Order: sequence, then structure tokens, then C-alpha cells
Amino acid sequence: MRILLFALLFLPLALGSAAAQTGNAQAGKTLWEGPATQCRNCHGQNGEGAFGPDLAGRGLTVAQFTRAVRQPWGIMPGYIESQISDGDIADLVAYFNGLKPADRPGPWRFEVPQGAPRGQEVALATIGCAQCHGPILNGPRANAGAVGADFRWFSTMVYDHAKVMPAHWKTLGEQPAVRVRMGTYSRTRLPEAVLMEVFNWAKDIGFRPDIQGRLSAGVPGADGVTYTLNVENIGLQGRGLTAEDLTINLVVPAGANVVRTTGANYQGVRQDADLKANVAVWQVNRLGPKEHQTYTLTLSRAGTQSDNVRGAIRWTKPAVKTGPVDQANIAPAPLAPATQ
Ligand code: HEC
Ligand code: HEC
Repeated sequence: MRILLFALLFLPLALGSAAAQTGNAQAGKTLWEGPATQCRNCHGQNGEGAFGPDLAGRGLTVAQFTRAVRQPWGIMPGYIESQISDGDIADLVAYFNGLKPADRPGPWRFEVPQGAPRGQEVALATIGCAQCHGPILNGPRANAGAVGADFRWFSTMVYDHAKVMPAHWKTLGEQPAVRVRMGTYSRTRLPEAVLMEVFNWAKDIGFRPDIQGRLSAGVPGADGVTYTLNVENIGLQGRGLTAEDLTINLVVPAGANVVRTTGANYQGVRQDADLKANVAVWQVNRLGPKEHQTYTLTLSRAGTQSDNVRGAIRWTKPAVKTGPVDQANIAPAPLAPATQ
């Protein structure tokens, strides 16, 4: 009798944990908040809900969560094992089931602006692309400009994303940031005609040349610290867009002086309203696909964590409908000294 009672009490528990592998809540939190996933753009920073439903404290099982991620029933893109593993899913379930449910869903990351064109409304509110890519799809428009995109290319990137993205990175000579983070959209849930509205709108605003600026860490020398900036148009030869009338701006940290610069057409230091700082400025007439320029900026002191050298590259052609000037940001220089 005692043995039977024991078995009755513990058998369901044992079965339950075997079927639903238990995850690690801390690992789930780290994954959710880290650079390897972007689910939070739709589900909220803490799973409180936004464009997508809330996940925190919902008590979803591993099986339910897995089904939702691998074979979404609605507009959410699906994710494969190399993007989110079964172990990752178990960790996310453990994390969310340890959180309190949200009182109400959080705000969307990006709302639909008043008077938005139809394609933008679709991208923001119907299929959610712009919840990750931002309200004017700057990244995809630059990648489209780099390869001379047509709708076929665009739709492959959406319907076969996880499969084709690594090859696209390779074509452009780019190092993947972490792993493929966008899911793969289903042709039945997202019909081509709807995706075409997004494509036509993005093309109408204008595809962009893919201009990238990369700063080295500061290298200390006899009379100051030298930063090297490489500016490159990573577009494909014969297919990518050329940028014209470019201005390159590097922020000079407050209190630092420019000791020396190299690189053609240096214009001196001026105040920049957008970057809210003094900037060292260079000009370039045009930068075509695979063309690059190198600049150096030697400062009297190194930037720090809070004011490290960063900047922006701006150009006026090709003109886009988002404003008279288009721009690519230059991320802050790494703080670690450059290795020789
Ligand atoms: C483009 C926005 C978007 C992204 C990105 C996204 N989701 Fe979703 N998610 C949704 C929507 C919308 C739903 C509702 C069902 C649907 O439309 O497929 C959903 C449903 C879910 C559900 C089921 C919730 C329920 O109430 O049953 C889970 C679990 C989930 N998503 C997890 C994830 C994870 C994990 C990721 C990242 C790997 C992710 N989602 C990325 C929008 C998104
Ligand atoms: C979860 C956030 C997310 C959503 C939602 C999303 N994307 Fe992406 N997309 C990315 C990321 C990140 C990349 C870079 C490759 C990667 O890591 O997947 C990318 C890559 C792309 C690319 C390839 C060129 C490039 O910009 O790197 C295109 C085109 C693209 N997305 C279009 C779309 C469209 C159209 C939609 C809506 C149908 C969409 N994306 C939805 C995050 C997202």
C-alpha cells in the first residue's frame, strides 16, 4: 500500500520532467537579453508583450513554446535549431515561467506614424519587419542597394532567410555578428502580394549605398593617441550603388585636441548639432562599390568608455525620400589597445 501510494505520488512528476526537459532560467534570461536573439523586439524586453503576445508568467509548456517557435501559427517567423536550439527553448521557458505575469502588454517598439504609407503600415503593424529593422528599414535598404536588389532577392531573404543569409554575408565580405537572428517567414501566412507592398515602399523611399565606417582602438604614440578609420562601400561591383558628396565626421572628445590627421580633403574641426560635439571633418566626392578610404586622427588624449571616438558618414546622393542627407553611423572605437 505504501509503495503504491509512493508510486502514484511521484510517477507523474517523474514523467513530466522527462517529457519536458527542465531548462536553466538564468541561461534563458541571458539568451533573451543578449545579441544572439532579437525576439524581444516583438515580445518586449522582459516578455511583457508588445507587437507579439506576452510570454512572462504565462506557464507555457516546453512543448507549446517549441511548437510556437518552430511552426508559428500566425505571422511570427519560424526559427530552426541552429538559431534557437531545443535546449535554448527549455531555458527560455524556465526563465519566463519564473517571472510574474505582466499587468498589461508593453508599448510596441515602433508605432505606426500618422499618415504612414501603406507599405510602411504593413512593415510595422501587419508583419512586424520594422519592429526589428526600424521604421524605414535602413539595413535592408542598404543591403538591397549593395546587391542591386529585385523582388526575387528580397523575397528569398524573407522566405528562406535562415538558409540564404550566410551566403549573403559571404557575398558582401561581412562577418556575421553572432548567428542568423531573423526567423523565416511562411509563404502561406505572408503572401507574396503583401510582401511586395513592403518591397515597393522600400524601393520608393530609395535603396541606399552600403557604406561602412570602422574605427580601430586608439594606439598611443609619442605625441598622442592615433585612431584609424576605414570607410568602405561594401556593395558588389557592377551592381551596388555609388555614394556621392560624402562628409566624414569623427567626434573629438571634450578637452582633447587634434594633433594631426591623415587622409585627403581634411576640413578641420567644427561643431556638429546632430552628434552634439566637435567633429573632425573630411570630404569625399564619391565612393563606388569596393572603394575604400583610410583616415587617421591623432588626439592629445584617448577617449574613454563614455566619450570614445565615434562618428557618422553622410552623403547627399543618391537622394532618398527620408531627408536631404542619408547617413551611416560609425560605432565607438573599441577600448582595448589594438594588437600588433
Ligand atoms: C515579428 C515579431 C516576432 C518575433 C521576432 C518573434 N515573435 Fe513570437 N510571436 C509573435 C506573434 C505575432 C505571435 C502570435 C502567434 C503568431 O502570430 O504566430 C507570437 C507567438 C509566440 C509564442 C506563443 C505565445 C502564446 O501565447 O502561445 C512564443 C512562445 C513565441 N512567440 C516566442 C518567440 C521567440 C522565442 C522568438 C525569438 C526566437 C520570437 N517569438 C520572435 C511575434 C514575434
Ligand atoms: C527579429 C527581428 C527581425 C524581423 C522581425 C525581421 N528581420 Fe530582417 N533581419 C534581421 C536581422 C538581425 C538581419 C541580419 C541577418 C540575421 O541575423 O538574421 C536581417 C536581415 C534581413 C535582410 C537581408 C539583408 C540585411 O538587411 O541584412 C532582409 C532583406 C530583411 N531582413 C528583410 C526583412 C523583412 C522584409 C521582414 C519582414 C517580413 C524582416 N526582415 C523581419 C532581423 C529581423
